[in-house]
Amino acid sequence: MSDAPILEPLNLVTDFDAAGDFEKKHTPYVVAEQVDGAYKLTVTVGHEVTHPNQADHWIGWIELYVGDAAVARFDLAPIVTAPVVSVLLDLEPGTVVRAVEHCNLHGLWAYEVAL
Ligand SMILES: [Fe+2]
Repeated sequence: MSDAPILEPLNLVTDFDAAGDFEKKHTPYVVAEQVDGAYKLTVTVGHEVTHPNQADHWIGWIELYVGDAAVARFDLAPIVTAPVVSVLLDLEPGTVVRAVEHCNLHGLWAYEVAL
């Protein structure tokens, strides 16, 4: 469950390639690959355009959702962690996974992929 303020808007990016630099800097870009019958999802915040990772501006967490269910969460500290995480998920082909990240200055950003 997210600890973000309830009223904070969610920025859902639907076309990464068409996004501008500010959007690309914040969009949780997802790559899915099949590994032994499961899916390995790697989420990168800052794909193509690097996001700052400093004490006053960083990515605090990344979550993965299937529908309304949170299936993974990663809490990140500034400076020492890069906003790149991977997890294995045992899901059916075609399942839609939503990645959500939180920037302490620029809020919530999301991106969806169908497996
Ligand atoms: Fe930011």
